[in-house]
Amino acid sequence: MAPIAEWVPESRLLQAWLTGRCSSGTVKHVMASLLRKLDFDRRTIALVEHDFSRFRAQLRQRRRARRPGVLLKSRRIHLGCGDRRVPGWLNCDVSGSELDLDLASGRLPFPDGSVTAVVMQHVVEHLELHGQLIPLLRELRRVCADDAVLWLSCPDLAKVCGAYVADRGQALKEDRCRRYPDYSLGGAPVQQFVNDLFHARGRHRNLFDLELLDWALHQAGFPSGEQVMEADLLTAHPEFPPRHDDAQSLYVRVCKSR
Ligand SMILES: C[S@@+](CC[C@H](N)C(=O)[O-])C[C@H]1O[C@@H](n2cnc3c(N)ncnc32)[C@H](O)[C@@H]1O
Repeated sequence: MAPIAEWVPESRLLQAWLTGRCSSGTVKHVMASLLRKLDFDRRTIALVEHDFSRFRAQLRQRRRARRPGVLLKSRRIHLGCGDRRVPGWLNCDVSGSELDLDLASGRLPFPDGSVTAVVMQHVVEHLELHGQLIPLLRELRRVCADDAVLWLSCPDLAKVCGAYVADRGQALKEDRCRRYPDYSLGGAPVQQFVNDLFHARGRHRNLFDLELLDWALHQAGFPSGEQVMEADLLTAHPEFPPRHDDAQSLYVRVCKSR
């Protein structure tokens, strides 16, 4: 499929949005109510909203590309930062970040060899393996300096499957509830937590174990990653707020050249 930025929007609403005459929130709201009327389910609507944000980020990325020398505020980049802005890092996400960009676009607006460290926590599982993640990893290899280190984390396919076999996910669900006391399965039996880890209401594309993530890294030209703990990331970069998520997560450290 063509990148969404190549699609020419025809509607007046979209034109108003693109020219800054109405906000992204308005477009999402109108689109969501239209999709609800058409009986699209909530998961589909959330994905459409996400693709709108990607579209907008791609447009911004294109505008920046026309201005040479995009300033790298920091040579350390924090991708898919969400609401965790880490001091001393360039915090990037699809919207509302210091540098909005679409990680699924296969392009990063940084010069070759300009980045010394990358942290990407719980992001790889949001990208299609072949069409989005591997192109992103190739692009990361391009922008990384030879001694750059990548820190990746994501839900661990091996831990999730092991947890289902061990106790249908009970211990992992308890771990989640300790970290997020408001988390609820809405009364469903505990194995629904395993579904939530796999799907995250449609936001997750794939879970990874070390072998699969390593394969993706090799496709992009990286050497093998080393499985580490969250503590290793925090020792290297203590400014990152802890997630305390080793029970469910895979942490991997990769050096561009070893
Ligand atoms: C589960 S959150 C993780 C947030 C943060 N890293 C953390 O550890 O709490 C996944 C993040 O990836 C971002 N993301 C997903 N797809 C993206 C894309 N195509 N481009 C940029 N960011 C994306 C989402 O917006 C979201 O903030």
